[in-house]
Amino acid sequence: MNNKNNKILYSAKSKGPINIALIKYWGKENENLITPLNNSISLTLDMNNFYTETNIEILLNNDKNNQKDIINLSINDIPSKITPRIIQVINKFKELKQDMQNDFYIFNIKSKNTFPIASGCASSASSMSSLVICLNKALQTHLSNTILSRIARLGSGSACRSIFGGIVEWEKEGNENSCAHQLYDENYWKLNVMLIIVNQKEKEISSSNGMKLSKETSDFLSYRINNIVPKHIKEIKESFIEKNFEKLGKIIMKDSNNFHSVCRDTFPTINYLTEESEFIIKIVDEINKNEKKIICAYTFDAGANGFIIFEENNKEKIENYFDKIIFNKNNENIKEEWIINLINKKNKEGKFINKVLFNLGKGPEIIE
Ligand code: DP6
Repeated sequence: MNNKNNKILYSAKSKGPINIALIKYWGKENENLITPLNNSISLTLDMNNFYTETNIEILLNNDKNNQKDIINLSINDIPSKITPRIIQVINKFKELKQDMQNDFYIFNIKSKNTFPIASGCASSASSMSSLVICLNKALQTHLSNTILSRIARLGSGSACRSIFGGIVEWEKEGNENSCAHQLYDENYWKLNVMLIIVNQKEKEISSSNGMKLSKETSDFLSYRINNIVPKHIKEIKESFIEKNFEKLGKIIMKDSNNFHSVCRDTFPTINYLTEESEFIIKIVDEINKNEKKIICAYTFDAGANGFIIFEENNKEKIENYFDKIIFNKNNENIKEEWIINLINKKNKEGKFINKVLFNLGKGPEIIE
């Protein structure tokens, strides 16, 4: 057992954030390369509560009877699709690091989410972004964020956006070089995100399988890719330049609706939204109607949890509305009829578990 007394050659520890897509990625041009059919835009969220922590130790495999790379994974709450993709990512780093090519190694990788997989958040994005920067640090490859984003893409499409902080775009152009870039850093526009975690039904179909099925069966998908997404990308970029929340909010909601209608058009149909999600949509619509302008927007990924986006100066107001309507906080002496109606409706509809507030974040970090 030569390996027992092996010295650790390389090690590092890192944290990676989740991101929420405002313009959704749905459909791959190439399944193996994980290249997207359309551009997408997302917000990278802060790591105050939700992140993946990765710990890597790399040793030389000097067991003469077992000359191959050995990857020992200890991962909690990370989707199973990740395992073969981790191997692909490690091979990419080995390819890029000349002095590793003639030997075999043992990679001990520990990955842990601070949030439950049942929260339905994109743990593949946080885990893969964290893994990639961790390997870059451990192996001292000093790769640029652009290259790291390309490698993270091989782990999970949406992960390539989590390499950057703030507001991020992933461009479909470039084929195997397709990667994300930052549009604005986390301080450009003080946007907040409130995640409403709802009673989860078991996710019927993963995002990877769902988008594959949509590509095979949905007629709406090509319309989305050719007509809807280019328009939304153009308009959302204008809203960023103008810092125009009404415009931004409208596109966010329209893109979420459009993406979920592609899911419904998929055969057999996919429905990620539940009664609770529909109720969140109703609350956002009612808030905006009563405020007489769009001050908050909803968006849903491949799951039932709602992400509510708003400007920081409206945080208290929006948190208050949601607290009253769904979390039964400070809801004595309410005068507004629309709020009372929603509270009554809520008692019949659904279970809401928790809310988590985020600022925009600055991307993954090396801890050690
Ligand atoms: C609905 O990145 O999880 O969240 O590339 O197969 O790993 P793979 O899929 P994944 O899909 C994310 C889909 C989405 C939209 C988005 O994040 O853009």
